[in-house]
Amino acid sequence: MLVGGQGSRLRPLTMSAPKPMLPVAGVPVTAHMLARARDAGITRVVLATSYRAEVFEDYFGDGSAHGLELEYVTETEPLGTGGAIRNVAPKLRGGPDDPIVIFNGDILSGLDIAALVRRHQQTGAAVTLHLTEVGDPRAFGVVPTDADGRVTQFLEKTPDPPTNRINAGCYVFRRSVIDEIPAGRPVSVEREIFPGMLAAGTLVVGYVDSTYWLDLGTPDAFVQGSRDLVTGRIGSSALPGPVGDWLVLPDATVATDAKLGGGSVVGVGAVVGDGATIDGSVIFDGAVIGEGAVVRASVVGAGAVIGAGVALDGVVVGDGARIDPDNELRAGARVFPGAVLGAGAIRFSSDRG
Ligand code: GTP
Repeated sequence: MLVGGQGSRLRPLTMSAPKPMLPVAGVPVTAHMLARARDAGITRVVLATSYRAEVFEDYFGDGSAHGLELEYVTETEPLGTGGAIRNVAPKLRGGPDDPIVIFNGDILSGLDIAALVRRHQQTGAAVTLHLTEVGDPRAFGVVPTDADGRVTQFLEKTPDPPTNRINAGCYVFRRSVIDEIPAGRPVSVEREIFPGMLAAGTLVVGYVDSTYWLDLGTPDAFVQGSRDLVTGRIGSSALPGPVGDWLVLPDATVATDAKLGGGSVVGVGAVVGDGATIDGSVIFDGAVIGEGAVVRASVVGAGAVIGAGVALDGVVVGDGARIDPDNELRAGARVFPGAVLGAGAIRFSSDRG
């Protein structure tokens, strides 16, 4: 599982924690992924870490609490997706023809992993890719196939995509293919390995599964993924509570007249004050939401303090930031960790105050 990226699109949240460790619906993205792998019968996972590597082992340990055997391989310099896969080769077990499943660590997906592996074994492909269909494929790796599912092209972020089927970030590699990736230098599977295999005539197969798929790489997608887990649109055995309209984690305090909904999650030890509204939002551990504040479609970082009457809509507030009363922030606003916004500094409606 690849968990070493910088997560630049999710700044400022990824300034304090690596993207795969950010809590969605109460536990790290990676915990949901690992639960799906375990539920599909996978027993051993190697985490390829780089950025903020230490936090993974601190949280997951040897994996026994998660029903898995976990190992870690850390890159001192990030090696990219292909380099990271090559770098874990010494930790892989099994023979040269055995299937190895590779996961990007920032995807929420309903993929039938066992079916992907079966397809790989039936076709005898060198690599089998999970493909999913999206409305606008331009920001993704577009992967056309022939009628038999053989991949014919690999077009990374193309302006004029010939199909809406994209690389969904989960692959099965024949073990020997991993050993052939160049070692000791950055390599991209998307830009170098897959196109190189196609040019050499190697059999690469696409497996379409469009059940549920979300790349949690952007703030909007991150909030959406958390909501979908809380409301049960995508199932996860790692969800730390019952499916419902909201999820409140242990030791959180929510005032009786506060309104929670839209698949919101309130983190461990967080406080939601009288008359506050939390709608479709992610409140990290220890954050404080003041009286009458309205938080919609937003992420409030760990220990951040949102003052009374503040309105947030489509906003990301970094860990430990403070937004004093009577501010109004709208879609796209990013408050950096530890920043302080004084009372009434930003408002939009002329009729207030
Ligand atoms: P952005 O900077 O926002 O694009 O995010 P990112 O750095 O995570 O990159 P991207 O989403 O393209 O990465 C896809 C997956 O590969 C994620 O799970 C990353 O954690 C992982 N990844 C990306 N680069 C590396 C790397 O150099 N080493 C390792 N071990 N994993 C990586």
